[in-house]
Amino acid sequence: MKKIILFSVAVVSSLMANNVTKEAKDAGLAPIPNDKKALMKLIDNPKNPITDAKVELGKKLYFDPRLSKSGFISCNSCHNLSEGGDDGLEAAVGHMWTVNPHHLNSPTVYNSVFNSIQFWDGRSPHLEDQAQGPMQAAPEMAATKQHVADVVSSMPEYVEAFKSIYGKDVKIDIVKVADTIGVFERTLVTPSRFDDFLNGNDKALTKAEQKGLQTFIQVGCTGCHTGVGIGGDLNGFNVVNTYKYNDVGDFKGDANGLVRVPTLRNITQTAPYFHNGMIKTLPAAIKEMGRVQLGADLTDTQVSEIETFLKSLDGRKPAISLPMLPASTAATPLPDLK
Ligand code: HEC
Ligand code: HEC
Repeated sequence: MKKIILFSVAVVSSLMANNVTKEAKDAGLAPIPNDKKALMKLIDNPKNPITDAKVELGKKLYFDPRLSKSGFISCNSCHNLSEGGDDGLEAAVGHMWTVNPHHLNSPTVYNSVFNSIQFWDGRSPHLEDQAQGPMQAAPEMAATKQHVADVVSSMPEYVEAFKSIYGKDVKIDIVKVADTIGVFERTLVTPSRFDDFLNGNDKALTKAEQKGLQTFIQVGCTGCHTGVGIGGDLNGFNVVNTYKYNDVGDFKGDANGLVRVPTLRNITQTAPYFHNGMIKTLPAAIKEMGRVQLGADLTDTQVSEIETFLKSLDGRKPAISLPMLPASTAATPLPDLK
């Protein structure tokens, strides 16, 4: 008798979980696939396919500060892979301590491959294109195209790696460097317990997390935070009310006032929040989103339920060993602190 009861409790709770899974999928949420082939289909760029050698070289370039004018700032300075893929600052700090002139916050690079467009205003179509920007941006790495090409070409180990990957006639320039960094970034995906749940493991989320997921859907967050990225497309901002820190920095979205919806994966690790980093805690961000985007005054209970769910999006990071960079040569441009 006891066994039968236990059995039926298990069946009922598994049915409930299945319903929540269905609700989530109907709301447009999608998991990072378990299956390697399906995942590769999502993250690969057929024009610049992922290979182990490219990932390894892309990782070195991602960590190499010599690509910057000062010789001091790498992609990892602002998108720290040990720390959520961002920098923990309100606004990014780049060349010679320049604070981002628009007071823009550094988004995480983890799972950025799932964004349909890159940057807060979506002005870049993909990671390979995006990576050329920060190397040349004056308040970021402040390098010229020539500087980037000169740095990489000055070290035989880099030159050999480019030749063995792209052929001996490869032109080593900022485009190839960015392409290679882009491939490394494509691998920065972090499957979480939420994905396990949507992939069929009913026990991967606690009851409280499932409840939070339902609240997240029911109040309307999935109107914008959907898909595998749980964000990633352009959408309206200040939809019902105006963001209370709208005037910090001059960012107003794209030409139509649209803003790229950020991913909510690993959101506990990427405070402070919003494009200008003015919201310091996750509950405050949830509450403000409800007010600004949905015209909803979310109760403390709803906020805390949603927060509980969002914590389940903390993902398993890919194992990244610290790359050893080739030594500079006499031809390597010297750091320029101007
Ligand atoms: C000085 C800090 C800084 C450095 C260095 C930097 N970034 Fe960024 N990154 C930012 C900021 C700030 C943004 C948002 C800018 C915007 O939207 O206009 C951004 C945006 C991005 C995005 C878009 C993510 C998204 O969700 O839209 C990617 C990808 C990215 N950076 C990768 C890189 C790579 C690769 C490098 C090295 C070549 C790099 N970054 C160097 C600060 C930095
Ligand atoms: C109408 C579309 C829309 C809806 C609905 C929406 N969001 Fe957002 N969300 C956005 C956009 C766009 C941003 C970026 C805004 C900015 O910083 O300029 C954002 C930002 C966020 C952030 C900050 C992320 C970061 O990295 O800084 C969190 C957290 C968030 N949303 C959670 C939620 C929650 C929870 C709900 C439901 C209560 C919700 N959102 C509803 C579009 C939406």
